[in-house]
Amino acid sequence: MKIDHSASPARTNIESHLKEKRLFQPPREFAQEARIKNFAQYQRMYRESIKSPGKFWAREANELVWRKRWRKVVEWKPPFAKWFIGGQLNLSENCLDRHLTTHRRNKAAILWEGEPGERRTLTYQQLHREVCRFANVLKRNKIGKGDRVIIYMPTIPEVAIAMLACARIGAVHSVVFGGFSADSIRDRIADSGAIALITADGSYRRGGIVPLKKNVDDALSGGTSVKRVIVFQRAHTEIHMEEGRDVWWHRELEYVGGDCPPTPVDSEHPLYILYTSGSTGKPKGILHTTGGYLVGIYSTTKYVFDLRDEDIYWCTADVGWVTGHSYVVYGPLANGATTLMYEGAPNWPEPDRFWRIIEENRVNILYTAPTAIRAFIRWGDQWVKKHDLSSLRLLGTVGEPINPEAWMWYHKTIGGGRCPVVDTWWQTETGAIMITPLPGAIPTKPGSATLPFFGVDAAIVDARGKEVGPNVGGKLIIRRPWPSMLRNIYGDKERYKKQYWSEYPGNYLTGDGARRDQDGYFWIVGRIDDVLNVAGHRLGTSEIESALVSHARVAEAAVVGRPDELKGQGVVAFVTLKAGVEASNDLKGELREHVGRHIGAIAKPDEVRFAEALPKTRSGKIMRRLLKEIASGAKVTGDTTTLEDFSVLAKLAQSDE
Ligand code: PRX
Repeated sequence: MKIDHSASPARTNIESHLKEKRLFQPPREFAQEARIKNFAQYQRMYRESIKSPGKFWAREANELVWRKRWRKVVEWKPPFAKWFIGGQLNLSENCLDRHLTTHRRNKAAILWEGEPGERRTLTYQQLHREVCRFANVLKRNKIGKGDRVIIYMPTIPEVAIAMLACARIGAVHSVVFGGFSADSIRDRIADSGAIALITADGSYRRGGIVPLKKNVDDALSGGTSVKRVIVFQRAHTEIHMEEGRDVWWHRELEYVGGDCPPTPVDSEHPLYILYTSGSTGKPKGILHTTGGYLVGIYSTTKYVFDLRDEDIYWCTADVGWVTGHSYVVYGPLANGATTLMYEGAPNWPEPDRFWRIIEENRVNILYTAPTAIRAFIRWGDQWVKKHDLSSLRLLGTVGEPINPEAWMWYHKTIGGGRCPVVDTWWQTETGAIMITPLPGAIPTKPGSATLPFFGVDAAIVDARGKEVGPNVGGKLIIRRPWPSMLRNIYGDKERYKKQYWSEYPGNYLTGDGARRDQDGYFWIVGRIDDVLNVAGHRLGTSEIESALVSHARVAEAAVVGRPDELKGQGVVAFVTLKAGVEASNDLKGELREHVGRHIGAIAKPDEVRFAEALPKTRSGKIMRRLLKEIASGAKVTGDTTTLEDFSVLAKLAQSDE
């Protein structure tokens, strides 16, 4: 929905009704050991980062390896920023080589578990060798600096090896999520002009095999810019190998040595393109470059997860998303951490797979998504209780607003009440975490991403661009550049300018609605496009959803608007119930009243529909666009290519029968 600029600002602000009173102080023992130990220290560093960004970021960058020092930290010619100008470095050198002269040489870099149960450990030294060898394979196949390479692989160590090998020689990778179809691959090849593609024969998912190579063959049929396909043997299935185009990863390794010095690249040299679907139009190729991105993910990983050398850190994201890039691969490795990777589904073979992995590996830090947390709640606590999760010391979430009740469950049931929870707000475009608690320093409130990270100048503005006061909703913008920001939409400067910088010139438009409370804490209410207008009141869907999820019988809820003659928009709630709960009309009435009590009569759903599951994108976000069509009785016509489970749609259409 577009905001009507002619209306008075008061009418265009997003109203916020959900008031969360719970406050959690950082546990004392955690704070004592943490890098940032108290609120005053956070404030001091934050102020410095805003007042003297050059000084602040130079200090962070100095902890990394530069082949040539930068002349200037930042140059801002809106809307284009450059960071660490004149500097030269190599990302894989920073993630690997720099640890080899320290005690980390023999430390586990990657702990991996396959869905069928195999395990592998790669030390920093071993990972370095594998990356060097594979980088030599790339060179052997005539892939060089600046060339674009598509990576379409399962979550196996080789996906990290492929990414790091590209970075080592200055090639630009574009990882395509392994759940995407042939069409998605073809679009991304066409947009990026990739000359090579790295894949596997297949990948395991819920006991079945996803035919990755077959999808690649379909994508390449009819001709593309891809000249070479390198295939890793993972599932050992029968596949077609195209003579002259396709080669086996393991065979290629036989021809190369283990010596491959990192190619120094300019700080602004492109590192990767990652496609993200906007709410409309074709996917955008978000372009990230090398120096600023590295500094951003290095320092956010260090401070937000407060990594210690002995930690086992697990971010459950797929490498196909930005979270996988920044916080499975590059951020942890740049910090010399042990990063755990798991190939498969959280409920395979049973819904306790995650808890088993945590128990068996003694995981200390868990970073996952609200959508997963809500699924765990739905599956029931008995799966959690079977396992010893006492190794955990810090929990994180990302990807969507987390409903306060889901936050509380995560904190209590998974964290045993002792682990700080960092609710991290950021985007593919921001490259790194932007609004987040620092676990030893910032008290948390369930449902709030709390305060901006160092150097992040975030604000909430009305339709005219004026900053709004406490507890008034508006649009979330960022008022100055930050090191890991996107540099462009690949090949489309005009779209980059229009999409992110035109509404409030010189300011980055996030597309999210939010409010700040009286303590300055940020509460993200979701995408602006999802805001409802009910009888002249602009309501964020996430607040109504959180009210529903706070009911003891509800597992998950998605709220959308449908045209309503009287009110402008009516509120329709799709609700999934916890395992074992009976759906009934009485319960529908109870849920309406529950929302009325929590938020106010204005937000009471006009209709509650029970659903077995909600339609989600592959990254776990609820597809409200589809629900809107269903709620208004229309046939679903929109693009459903990113929908995770098609059967959900058919069931939803019948959800009220
Ligand atoms: O709407 C916000 C939501 O996810 C969007 C970014 O999605 P994507 O580019 O796929 O990146 C996801 C991983 C960083 C944001 O515009 N979002 C992400 N994290 C949060 C969030 N909403 C609320 N709270 C969060 N912690």
